[in-house]
Amino acid sequence: MAYVHKALDVEAGYFLTGEDLNGLTDFGPGDKTFQWKLAYARPDFPVEFGVFGSNGSIPVSIGTDNYSSVAGYVQVDPGHYGRPGAFAVYQSGRDGNPGIDGASGNVMPATSSRGASFALFEPIFRGGAMLALRHDFNDNGFGTLSNGNALNLGFNVPHFQYAHGYLEANLGGNSALTGAGGGPTWKGMFWLTLPIKNVTTTAAAPAPVTSAAPLASAPRANSSSPPNSANASASVSPAAAPGNTSASEPKTVAAAAAGGAAHGKTLYAANCAACHGAGGAGGGAGPSLKGEKSKKDQAAVAAWIKNPAPPMPKLYPSPLSEKDVSDVAAYIETL
Ligand code: HEC
Repeated sequence: MAYVHKALDVEAGYFLTGEDLNGLTDFGPGDKTFQWKLAYARPDFPVEFGVFGSNGSIPVSIGTDNYSSVAGYVQVDPGHYGRPGAFAVYQSGRDGNPGIDGASGNVMPATSSRGASFALFEPIFRGGAMLALRHDFNDNGFGTLSNGNALNLGFNVPHFQYAHGYLEANLGGNSALTGAGGGPTWKGMFWLTLPIKNVTTTAAAPAPVTSAAPLASAPRANSSSPPNSANASASVSPAAAPGNTSASEPKTVAAAAAGGAAHGKTLYAANCAACHGAGGAGGGAGPSLKGEKSKKDQAAVAAWIKNPAPPMPKLYPSPLSEKDVSDVAAYIETL
């Protein structure tokens, strides 16, 4: 379940006994888990902070294992001139009943584990995918320290707005994380998201893949806790950016520019105002477009809309047609 209020995102999930969603080993029989997440991002500032964790119990041969984990992260979105985004997370976990020591036959005491990850990530394919390089440190609480590097790719499935995929190649580091024969080990994930409500008309814009990739791969210090997946960041999603999309600004478009620009104004309110503010006044994730005319002529604005630099999403050829782009560019020139 997720709740988004302007720049605050609160998510919680509860998984009942045997709720094994995908037939894999995420949730063992009898596992009960409560997962939560709290994230904060200012729409005009490319940094997101968050905490997430889980609390749960699973029956094991010698009683019940109560486990918990908590993690904190900071993410800086990718910026100008190809500066990649950066992500850091630290997680600690507690395993209340780690089982029986194979060597001595004794019941082992509760253990604590720790893990940290650092990642650099860069949007590719015009924000439709995110490539990341990550370094992990892990202390499993049983005296094994490990570290490794992974290359991963999170992507929106083309033409299916709410379908997402994730692929990870673990490139090793120390031996604990390397595949047999020294080659990479692979992981994959596929998930679907559905909006609870249509936040604004900008929901039609393709939301760039955000921190889903690095977050989904946050180290799970406690091996019995399910992955904290599908934690999509709200920081650069147009749907989550506030801003008055009602285009209630009083300015009337100059008659000379009327034809295209009037239509462009409507398109602007629906597709751009969430980030650039009503009437181009700024205040969202994008810069103010007041006086844009002095920087770019109509053709240059149209060229930019057709081929923007991330994090601005590519809205052409869908939802904006060639004519729409020209009309909205004409409107921008009136600001
Ligand atoms: C998800 C938020 C978002 C949406 C939606 C969005 N933009 Fe942008 N836009 C940005 C960001 C961020 C930048 C700055 C990118 C940069 O300079 O690297 C930008 C930059 C621009 C620029 C260039 C400004 C300059 O520096 O000259 C123009 C023009 C522009 N946007 C127009 C539009 C128009 C028109 C629309 C709607 C069709 C639109 N944007 C939709 C986020 C957005």
